[in-house]
Amino acid sequence: VSAPASTAGTTATELSTIRWVGGLDGCCRLIDQTLLPGKLAEIECRSVEQMADAIKRLAVRGAPAIGVAAGFGTVLGIRDSSARDRAGLLADLRRTTEFLARARPTAVNLFWGLQRMASAGERAANLPPAEWKQALLDEAIAIWEEDRRICRELGRHGAPLLADGETALTHCNAGGLATADYGTALAVFFAAREAGKRFAVFADETRPLNQGSRLTAWELQQRNIPVTVICDSMAGQVMKEGRIHKIFVGADRIAANGDTANKIGTYSLSILARHHGVPFYVVAPTSTFDLATADGKGIPIEQRDPSEINRGYSEPNAPAGVAVYNPAFDVTPHEHITGIVTEFGVIERPDAAAIRNHFIRHGLLAEKG
Ligand code: MRU
Repeated sequence: VSAPASTAGTTATELSTIRWVGGLDGCCRLIDQTLLPGKLAEIECRSVEQMADAIKRLAVRGAPAIGVAAGFGTVLGIRDSSARDRAGLLADLRRTTEFLARARPTAVNLFWGLQRMASAGERAANLPPAEWKQALLDEAIAIWEEDRRICRELGRHGAPLLADGETALTHCNAGGLATADYGTALAVFFAAREAGKRFAVFADETRPLNQGSRLTAWELQQRNIPVTVICDSMAGQVMKEGRIHKIFVGADRIAANGDTANKIGTYSLSILARHHGVPFYVVAPTSTFDLATADGKGIPIEQRDPSEINRGYSEPNAPAGVAVYNPAFDVTPHEHITGIVTEFGVIERPDAAAIRNHFIRHGLLAEKG
């Protein structure tokens, strides 16, 4: 990934989380999220290796944004292909998608995005190479555009769940930085705000890499939504004090029965919410559902580098060499979830039957599928 462009003094609205610049010989620009909130800077990815690196080190992160990165990364991987025939082009495409698929394991949007690119490549495989490559760029841009539209729909369906005067809690970052535009869980807040509601938000710090305090608090502050950061371990106390009315979180992968993988700490929150009678909502596009995985036991949990815990992005906060366990995600059982907000509406009390019916009703699954 190239050196950050100098963007001192730039506001979030002037930059995009992720976007394609130029034609087929252009590049993917993305906000380097590892630098926030101290520095708002874009980096350029001009090769598939740079894109994979950006995904692995969380320069681009959040399930929907990773799905968009999968599309642009695929374009970067095939645009210089010298193959002249269908078989050669499709072989280069397969090598590229297999390479990107190794970047991160949990967010299913990565694999969903790569599958979309593979299908687009198959469909266009009879075109001359230059047109085939352009068709893949068109598909990647379509994924980006769809994600922007879907974020707005998530906000539209989720905003009515937050009443005027309430206070919500969120975990990790499921905002504009985690998507191509407006967020998933945070889209609920942005849409509620646009509807004129007054409310406040608690943002969990979200150890170990603090996506909540670094990214969510920054995004909410940018939009003048009252936000208070708490350490993850304080959520129980704040709920006990009766200060949280609803919880909204994003998702990295939702199994066929509604079990939901999200940033580590979400599962504990769901137990606290149940104990305190606080409604717990997951907000996610349908690209985050993995109907091929029956339940949460089948969702791979990413294990990340120990240095994220004993060092993070700053000074050491654990002795050198101490044993560290760093699962990046956990799974919330569907019984703990009040509803899943999708771009088509809310799935109340999600389970295998409710999710299947939702998919059939919206034409995403055949009756016998
Ligand atoms: O490791 P990250 O920062 O990519 O984890 C992201 C999350 O867990 C988000 O909460 C989730 O992807 C939802 S994003 C809309």
